[in-house]
Amino acid sequence: MTKTMRALIGGRGPTWALDEILVPEPAPGQVLIRNRASATNNADLPMLDAADPTNGGTGEEFTAGYEYAGEIAAVGEDAGGWQVGDPVMGTFPSAFAEYLVADHRFVLPRPDGLAAEVACALPTALLTEFGALRTAGFERGRSVLITGASTSIGMIGVQIAKTLGASQIIATTRSAGKRELLTSLGADTVIVTGDEDLTDAVLSVTGDNGVDIVLDHVAGDTFAQCLPATAVDGHVVNIGRLAGPASTIDIDDLSYRHLTVHGVSFGFSRDWETVPILEALHADVVPAVGHGDIAPVIDSTFDVADLPQAVDRLRSGKAVGKIVLTF
Ligand SMILES: NC(=O)c1ccc[n+]([C@@H]2O[C@H](COP(=O)([O-])OP(=O)(O)OC[C@H]3O[C@@H](n4cnc5c(N)ncnc54)[C@H](OP(=O)(O)O)[C@@H]3O)[C@@H](O)[C@H]2O)c1
Repeated sequence: MTKTMRALIGGRGPTWALDEILVPEPAPGQVLIRNRASATNNADLPMLDAADPTNGGTGEEFTAGYEYAGEIAAVGEDAGGWQVGDPVMGTFPSAFAEYLVADHRFVLPRPDGLAAEVACALPTALLTEFGALRTAGFERGRSVLITGASTSIGMIGVQIAKTLGASQIIATTRSAGKRELLTSLGADTVIVTGDEDLTDAVLSVTGDNGVDIVLDHVAGDTFAQCLPATAVDGHVVNIGRLAGPASTIDIDDLSYRHLTVHGVSFGFSRDWETVPILEALHADVVPAVGHGDIAPVIDSTFDVADLPQAVDRLRSGKAVGKIVLTF
C-alpha cells in the first residue's frame, strides 16, 4: 500500500492546503478507510478560519473534514467484524484525505450500489437528525416541525421522519422557491417564514394543538416562535443556530405546555451517547437509504484538485445541499 496520501490541511492560510502526508495506521479498535469522497459541513469554515494564521488564527495544523465514504483498507486489533474491502461511510475527524483511521464503532455500512460520491453526503445528517428524533422520544405517528428544513441536514430530517412514520411533517424555509423541493422530500406543509407567521401557521394545520416534536436548525426568534407551536408534553430539540444563538422566550409557553427542551451537538457527544444512536441508525434507517427512500441533496461535486472552486462555492452561502469533494 502507498505510504503517503493527499490530504487537505487547515492552519496554513485562509483555505485548506492540498498536501502529501503519511497514511495513518489503525490503532487497536480502529479501521483504516480508503476514502473516495467527502462532503463539506457548516462547521468546516469556522474551524478553517479559527486556525488561519494570516488572520489572527491559531496556526495549529490539522487534517480537515468529517464526512467520508469509501471502503475498509485495513483492520486494527479488536476492530469489530469489518473486512478489507467492505463499503463504508461515516463521520469522523480528518476525513478530507485519501485515507483516514476511524473508531470501528463509528463506521456505517455503505449500502450496495450507493456511490461513494453520494454516500459521503449522508452520515452527519443521518446521525444528527435521527439522533435528535431519538432524543425527543420520536415514535411512529408523532408530528414533527422542522425549521430551516432546506438545510442539508434538515432535508435528511424530513426524509427520516417520513420513513419512520411521522403522522405530519411541517417544514419551514425563508425561500418560497424551495417549497416544491421540500414537498418532494416528504413535507406535508411548507411554511415560508417571512410570508407567514410560524406559530399561527403551525397551529392552523394541527387543529390548534401544535406539533409533538420540533427539530430546530435556526434558533434566534424562530426558536421562540416554535414553543407556542408545540403540543402539550411536546419536545423541542435545538440542532443549529443559523439565526444566532440568542433567543428571548416566553417561559409561560414552556410551563403551561409542559414542554421539554433539548440541545444536541453530535460533534461533542460522548461515545456512550453516539454509539447507541449509530447502532439504531444502522438497524432502522440505513436500510431505507439502501432502498433509495432517503437520499442527500447534492449541490455540486468537485475533484479535490479543483479545491478553490469548491471553497468559493462553500463560502458563497448559495449552495442548496451538500458540496462533495472526490479523492
Ligand atoms: N447539532 C449538531 O450536531 C449539528 C450537526 C450538523 C450541523 N449542525 C448545524 O445545523 C445547521 C444546518 O447545517 P447545514 O450544514 O445542513 O446547513 P446548510 O446546508 O449550509 O443550510 C443552508 C440553508 O440554511 C438556511 N439559512 C441560512 N441562514 C439562515 C437564517 N439566518 N435563518 C434561517 N435559515 C437560514 C437557508 O435556507 P432557506 O433559504 O430555506 O432559508 C440556507 O439555504 C447549522 O447551524 C449547523 O451548524 C448541527
